[in-house]
Amino acid sequence: MKKLIKISLLTLASISLSVLASGGGSYLPNDEMPTYTSHRLTTSMQNGMQVYMNNCMGCHSLEFQRYNRTAKDLVIPEDLMISNLMFSSDKIGDLMTNNMPTASAEKWFGTAPPDLSLIARSRKPQWLYNYFRGFYQDDSRPYGVNNSVFKDVGMPHALESLQGIQAKTDEVKNLENEKEYALGDLASAQEKLKNEEGDSSELNALISKSEALIHENDEKLMELSESGNYFTLVKQGQLSPAEFDSAMTDLVNFLDYIGEPIKRERKSMGVYVLLFILFFTAVAYFLKKEYWKDIH
Ligand code: HEC
Repeated sequence: MKKLIKISLLTLASISLSVLASGGGSYLPNDEMPTYTSHRLTTSMQNGMQVYMNNCMGCHSLEFQRYNRTAKDLVIPEDLMISNLMFSSDKIGDLMTNNMPTASAEKWFGTAPPDLSLIARSRKPQWLYNYFRGFYQDDSRPYGVNNSVFKDVGMPHALESLQGIQAKTDEVKNLENEKEYALGDLASAQEKLKNEEGDSSELNALISKSEALIHENDEKLMELSESGNYFTLVKQGQLSPAEFDSAMTDLVNFLDYIGEPIKRERKSMGVYVLLFILFFTAVAYFLKKEYWKDIH
């Protein structure tokens, strides 16, 4: 029995540790996405679908999902769906596929664009929200952009016409450069210490100095990101930064819906189930009272 308790405690501890570990992310920016409910959420998903069909569907299919199911769940009339949102098919009962040839796509982008039916489950909504807002100018990359959430990503900046182009601010660049040097110093000092080259107390001092600088710069970068000073727009897009953020919330809400079309029903059903359990507990309690009344 004791052993059993010990095992279950250990399992519980490791589960909570892994939950904690998966909670924080090490990427920046890591802004929270606004949450919407009911009618606002439906409108947001509809907008998100429009953004998706216009900018993403050419490369990324959603092949676990059918157009008519989406139309029904997002309250989009079928004729509107056919005329405005379907480009690769005109049959409303079709799966949401595209004609991207995988082999050529691999050649073009290095990696074929993955199907995104389940992306909101494998990557969490907050990750997606920041990823879509994380493209920035980087002339060393093939498409002239990099992504601060998904480093060296093979995807071009598909939303450039909406967002424009942003770049890291000078402050961010300086802090990152300093950090890069400190990481270099740290690695070489550790290597020397391991090979017993040089004065060990000097090396240890260099190690703690570098570690402190890395930590300090990480904190400053986080502050810059939290105050919205991580990126600055260098080319205007069709949308203002606030409008773009809102469009990205819509896009993620749409992908979240696609990842689990029954999520909203499941949640509202959950409330009824809990209410029923509460009601049934009361009934059971009064029944018990009634049955035991004559025995005492
Ligand atoms: C021109 C083709 C193209 C377009 C358009 C495009 N993508 Fe991509 N996307 C890619 C490629 C290629 C990758 C794989 C990149 C890699 O793994 O390095 C990718 C990766 C992704 C990923 C990361 C998948 C992962 O591995 O976690 C997401 C999410 C994503 N795209 C979403 C979108 C969305 C949303 C849009 C529309 C706004 C879009 N993409 C438009 C080509 C495209």
